[in-house]
Amino acid sequence: MSTGTSINLKVEKTKNSKLSQIDFNNLPFGQTFSDHMFVCDYKDGKWQTPQIIPYQNISLDPAAKIFHYGQSVFEGMKAYKDDQDQIWLFRPLENQKRINISSERLAMPAFPKNYFMEGLETLLKIDKEWIPQTPGSSLYIRPFIFATGVGFHASPADEYKFIIACAPSGPYFSGNVKVLIEEKYSRSANGGVGFAKAGGNYAGQFYPTELAVKKGYHQVIWTDDNTHEYIEEAGAMNIFVRIGDTLITSPTSDRILDGVTRKSILDIAKDENIPVEVRKFTVTELVEASKNGTLKEMFGAGTAAVVSPISLFGHKGENYELPEIENSYASRFKKRITDIQYNRAEDKFGWRY
Ligand code: COI
Repeated sequence: MSTGTSINLKVEKTKNSKLSQIDFNNLPFGQTFSDHMFVCDYKDGKWQTPQIIPYQNISLDPAAKIFHYGQSVFEGMKAYKDDQDQIWLFRPLENQKRINISSERLAMPAFPKNYFMEGLETLLKIDKEWIPQTPGSSLYIRPFIFATGVGFHASPADEYKFIIACAPSGPYFSGNVKVLIEEKYSRSANGGVGFAKAGGNYAGQFYPTELAVKKGYHQVIWTDDNTHEYIEEAGAMNIFVRIGDTLITSPTSDRILDGVTRKSILDIAKDENIPVEVRKFTVTELVEASKNGTLKEMFGAGTAAVVSPISLFGHKGENYELPEIENSYASRFKKRITDIQYNRAEDKFGWRY
């Protein structure tokens, strides 16, 4: 074990690297994991000495509250390697802040900023060779916190574990995305946890998404729980539409995740003088715009999804196709964002880290 950082980080390196087993030209999303992970335990009211250790299984008491009451939050980030072998992150402090916003909502302790950032940076330096250089690939980073404290009493745990694990990954979606606008199930409600990156928010989506997949769609677009008229977000991304030349997205709320890619797109749109409306919009408006030919684009935005064009949406048994257009907003935003992420262009916003 060695320490050499201001957070007294202990480092134990693996003796059995799995790096040579990885086909970097054929990477699924989030299926293989790098050699090391960052781990820190919370007990006796404070975060203990953080460690970087070989990636390995963890052992938990069957009464750990994560299993019973689902106290678990996570983040999604990526590390990018440029052609000079330099490593970059994209707006990491946004994720660092957001994990604590999520934790607070689930009555979990905040994780200190210096532990998060120093742990992450040290882990990435150690697992640098795991960051792919193949186009469209990156090292997906998953920081997460969950309740390890035990008991069947339905109350917050007194012990937690924070982990950062990394997975060299290709694209989340393999092509254009087909979505079903949800009419029955809901992802979140006013006063709920929809804005938090809580594991349970995703678990609750799996069943309705499976039903949509059986009908030939990839993702569900969630609507408000009351009228199912207002478009909110998709399972793994925020949603944008373009009607005429105007870019529209729903305002964030306690039902919608405050996505880092979402807010970056809004800044780029402003920079490019694209008319933007951050407002509630309805399925009826989308269907009408599709019928009268003014619905030009729909796309999702997220860390995993980057900017993912939607080719078709389904609603009430009808499918509505999106036109294929030249120089789409989606392609422009994707290029601007990935050029910053991979250090291929000037970063006037100061997002590259
Ligand atoms: C991300 O975009 O990083 C997410 O956390 C979404 C997840 C469903 C892959």
